[in-house]
Amino acid sequence: MAENLMHAIQYSSYGGGAAGLKHVEVPVPTPKKDEVLLKLEATSLNPVDWKMQKGMLRPLFPRKFPYIPGTDVAGEVIKIGSAVKNYKAGDKVVALLSHSSGGGLAEFAVAKESLTVARTPEVSAAEGAGLPVAGLTAYQALNQFAGVKLDGSGQQVNLLITAASGGVGQYALQLAKLGNTHVTATCGARNMDLVKSLGADEVLDYKTPDGAALKSPSGRKYDAVIHCATGIPWSTFEPNLSAKGKVIDITPDASAVMTFVLKMLTFSNKRLVPLLMIPKRKNLDYLVKLVKEGKIKTVIDSKHLLSRAEDAWAKSIDGHATGKIIVEP
Ligand SMILES: NC(=O)c1ccc[n+]([C@@H]2O[C@H](COP(=O)([O-])OP(=O)(O)OC[C@H]3O[C@@H](n4cnc5c(N)ncnc54)[C@H](OP(=O)(O)O)[C@@H]3O)[C@@H](O)[C@H]2O)c1
Repeated sequence: MAENLMHAIQYSSYGGGAAGLKHVEVPVPTPKKDEVLLKLEATSLNPVDWKMQKGMLRPLFPRKFPYIPGTDVAGEVIKIGSAVKNYKAGDKVVALLSHSSGGGLAEFAVAKESLTVARTPEVSAAEGAGLPVAGLTAYQALNQFAGVKLDGSGQQVNLLITAASGGVGQYALQLAKLGNTHVTATCGARNMDLVKSLGADEVLDYKTPDGAALKSPSGRKYDAVIHCATGIPWSTFEPNLSAKGKVIDITPDASAVMTFVLKMLTFSNKRLVPLLMIPKRKNLDYLVKLVKEGKIKTVIDSKHLLSRAEDAWAKSIDGHATGKIIVEP
């Protein structure tokens, strides 16, 4: 690669899936005063990356074409902006890039200092890169909405986690088990042993009748559902909820939004809560520390070279990852 140019993956219009990704050489970005320039070691994909390419978030994201997708990165600080206080060249970090500018599928990227956290050697680049979107979403669902205290204090919460084998679900399950919880988890048959090993108290195969009905094998009613799968109607959740049970829906469709409004207007005790992840540096820092301490881990579905990023992209679109899909330069 010529000096000041880097290998990156771009798309220039909506649609096209993996075939719409192009390998390009573009200038290495220059950090603004509040940014750090990172030499990337790993990037993890999230469904939102290909949803943006599909046009599902237009007109908000991407703001402009061509666009380098990918927001969840780990790497080494190469250069810092003039106002950066906490980092210096050589520091290893994890960062969440903004969805409007993207930049993760590349050899270098710029990250805001405000969404960058330090990474010690115990946390591999791949494990760290898995955390930002998926880990922060799981944390917010549990901490802000499900009433789970991750220090283990508080009354026991009966939880259901759907798609506990996915990027968000695997973190939600491990974080939930740091608190005082009983967790029922759903996943496909091939992942039941893994999900048990991550701490689930009971596991349902979502393709069986009881799994599809979300029925707890021990007959529990759920105080909160961390809903990471899609396409499950309120009528399936409702009979499984405790008197004040909530469904925290991380992928709300139009009917979920209607349910949210209806339950609010009717002062229903059972609620649906649509969740949009709001990133916070202190929460990302907390998650990286939990990985360092061995309290949670990143389940890695697969690793792909940047030169084969389209394979990682197709895998994410396929919707059957077990944990996180990682791309490495
Ligand atoms: N609101 C927000 O801010 C926010 C943040 C992050 C993510 N999200 C959204 O949350 C969703 C989950 O994200 P993710 O990263 O966890 O996705 P993911 O990693 O692609 O999820 C894949 C996993 O889901 C499992 N799965 C699929 N359908 C299932 C079902 N009906 N029941 C149980 N398991 C099922 C699959 O198992 P099998 O292979 O066995 O089918 C697979 O292991 C995505 O739609 C994403 O866009 C929203």
